[in-house]
Amino acid sequence: MPGPVTVVGHPLVQHKLSLLRDVSTGPKEFRELASELTLLLAYEAMRDLETQPVRLKTPIVEGDFPMLEGKKLAVIAILRAGLVMSDSILRLVPAAKVGHIGLYRDPATLQPVAYYSKVPQDISERRVFLLDPMLATGGSAVAAIDTLKEAGARSIKLLSILSVPEGIEKVHAAHPDTEIVTAAIDERLNDHGYIVPGLGDAGDRLYGTK
Ligand code: URA
Repeated sequence: MPGPVTVVGHPLVQHKLSLLRDVSTGPKEFRELASELTLLLAYEAMRDLETQPVRLKTPIVEGDFPMLEGKKLAVIAILRAGLVMSDSILRLVPAAKVGHIGLYRDPATLQPVAYYSKVPQDISERRVFLLDPMLATGGSAVAAIDTLKEAGARSIKLLSILSVPEGIEKVHAAHPDTEIVTAAIDERLNDHGYIVPGLGDAGDRLYGTK
């Protein structure tokens, strides 16, 4: 049974995603767009955060106004492309703790290879937002969610700017409880594991390493 997927079809998101896809978009603009798209995905992904009334004074009156309940959050960046996303999301939720999971994709097997993992110790008490701009084969996302669950995480949402059906199916086959929030579901993967039409290698485009 498939798990939950939210595609953020807002025109602003779609516009910025098209600019991100454009091969002539350079690293500076690419980082800015990825950062803005992350904020817009996070806005959607955090729609169900609970609020509680807090007593405060406006310049005019005293009253009860909604503020986020003290539920703890964690943002986990899959290195390296997820780093821009975690920096961005911290502007919205500066009190969130940040973790990092380092995985790279073996170019021959396309399987994820873990080389680093550091996540908040109290992750079991936190709502976790896992950040990876590209949900392609799904191998890295599944490996990262495995790592997070082994560390005790119980509530995980995956934010990916771009995804494909293969990746979504793979994540939900292994972790049907993980909601995926994405700006678009593209057609397919090519023989090299790249998303089509896609935007190329997100890490290289973010950091100009191509
Ligand atoms: N990772 C990327 O950066 N791009 C893709 O198209 C697939 C995986």
